[in-house]
Amino acid sequence: MNDGTNEQTQGVTLNPAAVPLRGSVHVPSDKSINHRALILGSLVAPPGLVVTGLSEAKDVRTTAACLRALGVFLRESAHNEWCINASPPACVPSHATLDCGNSGTTLRLLMGLLAGREHLICTLTGDASLRRRPMRRVAEPLRHMGAQVTLHDDEMAPVHVQGRRPLAALREYTVPVPSAQVKSALILAALAADGPSRILDPFGTRDHTERMLSWLEPAKPAVRVERHDGGSEIIQVEPRPQGVHVAASMPLVVPGDPSAATFWLVAALLVPGSELALPRIGSNPRRTGALEVLRRMGAEITLGERAEHGGEPCADWHGRYTPSLQAVEVSPVEVPTLVDEIPVLAVAAAAADGTSRFAGLAELRHKESDRLLGTVALLRGLGVHAELEPPDTLLVHGRATPFSGNVPTDPLRTHGDHRLAMAAAVAALAAEAPVHVDSLASTSISDPTFLKTRERFVLPHDS
Ligand code: S3P
Repeated sequence: MNDGTNEQTQGVTLNPAAVPLRGSVHVPSDKSINHRALILGSLVAPPGLVVTGLSEAKDVRTTAACLRALGVFLRESAHNEWCINASPPACVPSHATLDCGNSGTTLRLLMGLLAGREHLICTLTGDASLRRRPMRRVAEPLRHMGAQVTLHDDEMAPVHVQGRRPLAALREYTVPVPSAQVKSALILAALAADGPSRILDPFGTRDHTERMLSWLEPAKPAVRVERHDGGSEIIQVEPRPQGVHVAASMPLVVPGDPSAATFWLVAALLVPGSELALPRIGSNPRRTGALEVLRRMGAEITLGERAEHGGEPCADWHGRYTPSLQAVEVSPVEVPTLVDEIPVLAVAAAAADGTSRFAGLAELRHKESDRLLGTVALLRGLGVHAELEPPDTLLVHGRATPFSGNVPTDPLRTHGDHRLAMAAAVAALAAEAPVHVDSLASTSISDPTFLKTRERFVLPHDS
């Protein structure tokens, strides 16, 4: 047995926190912004885009590897500074097979980018989880633009893209699902269109692509965004036949990942005596729905010094043990702003007083696993009464006592899903007895520092 404090990550026994969570936790830089920095950087002519603090997360490294296979120039210099340039024409292959691993963002954004790449034929594939995820949501609008995209069973990866240019502009297209990946893929394709495109996002999903394109070309941005009350937005995209021309040579500094930070914030709220600081966390309002929900639960959270990096707001986050969390209602309109935080918010709800209700979670079924069913099973495995109200509402009946442990023969199942694995590990810190989990290997998908940080708060491994 071990408690996950060494590198062994299969069949893990997690001991409760041995000490309060105190001090600072530095989480990796934002995964979503990293993907976009690499992909938009691949459009930037020399001297290129300089990015500081690229994340070591597996998903991010996957995007970097795919771009390298496309001839993109990616060089790491001292102090973790990366320089990214468009591929010199001589280095662009005519065919490529790109392994997108576990990363939906990599695959979907690259579909949009490659649809408008003339003379390039690509196959995009990934691991078993990615090959089960829906891709028609991206392929269909790309086909409206004249892109040549075929899917396995007309639904999933492997995806075959035969690039052509120009694509037909999207005169007016409303994104039908709350997905920033779909929206971003269309913005990337629209850069290679024969005229301006108008893309409507009624859901207010994360807007990192829009912000980064505006930051890269402040004088004449490729996108203009109208933001409306309630979160919806209209994005006008001007095509960019020769790639993106960066005006300033300022490095792009990527803020800390708010999704990774929320795991530690919730851990601090649940473990008695804790008080944690999380410096320089991305605090884009499209990503901070979890903070609002936790505050409504009565959580002792404060945001300290604020700054802006690469067009993205960030702030120091602080969280303190809160013994009397209250149940909460989360409405469907809030879900895009906290979609990746549901498993750990459910853990917080399980420790709160009363029944919490999270409505409108249909998209969770299309994540790295069926995260809706996975979250219910995880909570039940910890002795919490949780249920699914059809079709997509999660009910969590909280109790203000620590979670129970479980037996090693029936470990919590994480389905290779990093967010479920980290939610389980956070709950285990606040449990009254050891918690057994099938694996924590998936944590490196988004936060390769997670297990090491956890070691600070538990007893040394017990075998
Ligand atoms: C992401 C968008 C979301 C999110 C994912 C990252 C992005 O997915 O769940 O972790 O970087 O655009 P969807 O677009 O499928 O909602």
